[in-house]
Amino acid sequence: MKTVLVTGAGGYIGSVLVPKLLQRGYRVRALDRYFFGIDKLEAHPQLSLIKEDSRRIPEEALVGVDAVVDLVAISNDPSGELFQEATYEINHQSRVRTAEMAKRAGVSRYILPSSCSLYGFVEPEVIVNEQSATNPLSTYAKANELAELGVLPLADDTFTVVVMRQATVYGYSPRMRFDLAINGMTLGAWKTGVIPLMKDGTQWRPMVHVQDTTDVMALLLEADAANVNGEIFNVGSNRNNYQLGPLGEEIARALPKPVTIEWYGDPDHRSYRVSFDKIEATLGWKARWTAADGALEIYTALEEGCVPSYEQTITLGWYRELIKWHRIIRDTELYGGMLDLPAQTEPGEGQ
Ligand SMILES: NC(=O)c1ccc[n+]([C@@H]2O[C@H](COP(=O)([O-])OP(=O)(O)OC[C@H]3O[C@@H](n4cnc5c(N)ncnc54)[C@H](O)[C@@H]3O)[C@@H](O)[C@H]2O)c1
Repeated sequence: MKTVLVTGAGGYIGSVLVPKLLQRGYRVRALDRYFFGIDKLEAHPQLSLIKEDSRRIPEEALVGVDAVVDLVAISNDPSGELFQEATYEINHQSRVRTAEMAKRAGVSRYILPSSCSLYGFVEPEVIVNEQSATNPLSTYAKANELAELGVLPLADDTFTVVVMRQATVYGYSPRMRFDLAINGMTLGAWKTGVIPLMKDGTQWRPMVHVQDTTDVMALLLEADAANVNGEIFNVGSNRNNYQLGPLGEEIARALPKPVTIEWYGDPDHRSYRVSFDKIEATLGWKARWTAADGALEIYTALEEGCVPSYEQTITLGWYRELIKWHRIIRDTELYGGMLDLPAQTEPGEGQ
């Protein structure tokens, strides 16, 4: 039985990936700070949870590990701008350090889930591929690019390194994120009958379902090293390259209730149309999900009450809440408790 260390395992993608790997017979070490709750991963005999910061992973955590999927990140542009230093430390430095430690510990494979956002902006008539110049516009995208540049040179005959540049992900996950385009549109439609769309709707953005991208992670764990080592793969599908305006209309048509579209924000400066030919040609992999299927899946999950806490689903909002409450708790906590002070111990007791 192979052991996979998944970092960021309690996150949106991790909490879909981990049960998939367990179901496929892997033993999983799920490492996370669990900022979004430790309840997103169900107990399983082959699952061990490691509550640790990715910047402080001890060498022992990698002993006996066959592969690492390094999902950990401050995971979107607005959070990256607010927490710039932490974003470089976590998304770039900690991942390079983890890859280096993994190589030293004899781990044979390392997968870096990066992002198509490092293409930033390209003219609408251009379709970028893995060889195109990158143009990262945000701290988040820049940190992802630095991580790619840091881990790829570690690839050699004993250590397979693969980079996945994922399209914007959508679909249901136990750690739901409504700060992602299709997910947020669907929430708006379900809650108020209005799809929020970022201006001006002509910007191109590729999309991939969370089940599809985690299928690719599982595939890359077993793919022949000769085909994937030292390679970058865009992960998504040519048919799921969307302009946000038409995407909103497609989602409106797919949902079982009448909805309108409402524009918000300043015009989005990110726009990229991406080719996904390489992953299909190399691995024979094709995405299964359409945007309409994903929107319906989320709509149904909302109808069935499967998203208990909305607060945690907006990544930046939740990090802000944690920081606010950390301050309040630090100011009020005494003797390790709040209203429930722990029993007082006499001097000498418990020694
Ligand atoms: N979701 C997308 O649309 C998308 C698209 C492209 C790339 N990606 C990349 O995929 C990865 C996973 O994204 P996600 O959507 O699951 O994000 P997420 O925010 O849901 O998950 C990130 C996880 O990392 C954990 N974490 C953050 N800092 C940590 C630290 N210092 N130590 C330990 N744990 C820490 C968080 O608790 C969280 O569970 C990220 O690297 C992201 O950049 C995501």
